[in-house]
Amino acid sequence: MENTFNFNNELSGKIALVTGGTKGTGKAIAERLEAAGATVIITARNPPEQPNAKQHFIAADLTKASGTEKVVNEVLEQFGKLDILVNNLGGSETKSGGYSVLNDKDWLHSLENNLLAPVRLDRGFLPQMVEQKSGVIVHIASIQGKLPLYDSTLPYAAAKAGLINYSKGLSNEVAPKGVRVLTVSPGWINTSASKAMMERIAESSNTTIEEATKSVMDALGGIPIGRPAQPEEVAELIGFLVSPRANYLTGTEFIIDGGTLPTI
Ligand SMILES: NC(=O)c1ccc[n+]([C@@H]2O[C@H](COP(=O)([O-])OP(=O)(O)OC[C@H]3O[C@@H](n4cnc5c(N)ncnc54)[C@H](OP(=O)(O)O)[C@@H]3O)[C@@H](O)[C@H]2O)c1
Repeated sequence: MENTFNFNNELSGKIALVTGGTKGTGKAIAERLEAAGATVIITARNPPEQPNAKQHFIAADLTKASGTEKVVNEVLEQFGKLDILVNNLGGSETKSGGYSVLNDKDWLHSLENNLLAPVRLDRGFLPQMVEQKSGVIVHIASIQGKLPLYDSTLPYAAAKAGLINYSKGLSNEVAPKGVRVLTVSPGWINTSASKAMMERIAESSNTTIEEATKSVMDALGGIPIGRPAQPEEVAELIGFLVSPRANYLTGTEFIIDGGTLPTI
């Protein structure tokens, strides 16, 4: 096959939305897509600490239906279309202590943050993607979808497992209509969120951050590559997946975890 790919400006003319694009992994993804030539829109509840004039920011709480509706309306009104949707928003704020310390509020928040927000955004943008017969949707899940850590993140792990399953089903439905749907499941990424999680575990189990970090490392069974991922390493995979170089990929989950998952 003749190689006709343009690696430098390969996303030129594309409109891309990255949820949770102001910090951590989402920020790195937004920068990676911008570097490939896309027009990038980012969302979060608060504006980025250091605004990037080239990126368009929309403030919205995506755990609420009104927030996702606001984003869909603003993007389609201002840009007329969306080509790339990276559902990066997600995370866990539940305390440690296992199932018995969690209430419905904890469960609902994890489900809204990690599962319902992407479901609602996909539902809002898909009609236009199907109409233009092209588009790429990426769901950022987690290795916890397969390796649930029960002490502090039971609802998060269950929501991510649901997201992985939903992503596959959606791909089956919309791939014949020209839209690719993919899942990326990272292991530990070095972000402020993962640092905050260690602080929470240390506080609720009355240990130090070092001990909390070790307990999570032990629960994961270690990271064979010897360190957490940098956000830019995850962003690089997504840069490839949304590009025309990945045109034959849909319905697949990509695990990026430095070898953490112990099984095939
Ligand atoms: N970090 C890890 O070790 C790790 C491991 C596996 C998977 N992941 C997954 O990777 C993705 C990114 O994680 P991260 O650690 O990079 O996140 P992060 O650094 O905590 O960033 C979260 C982003 O989401 C925004 N956000 C949070 N709550 C929101 C809400 N209710 N509505 C709208 N925006 C909201 C934040 O901005 P505001 O606070 O201003 O709203 C911020 O931009 C998530 O899906 C996560 O589950 C992370």
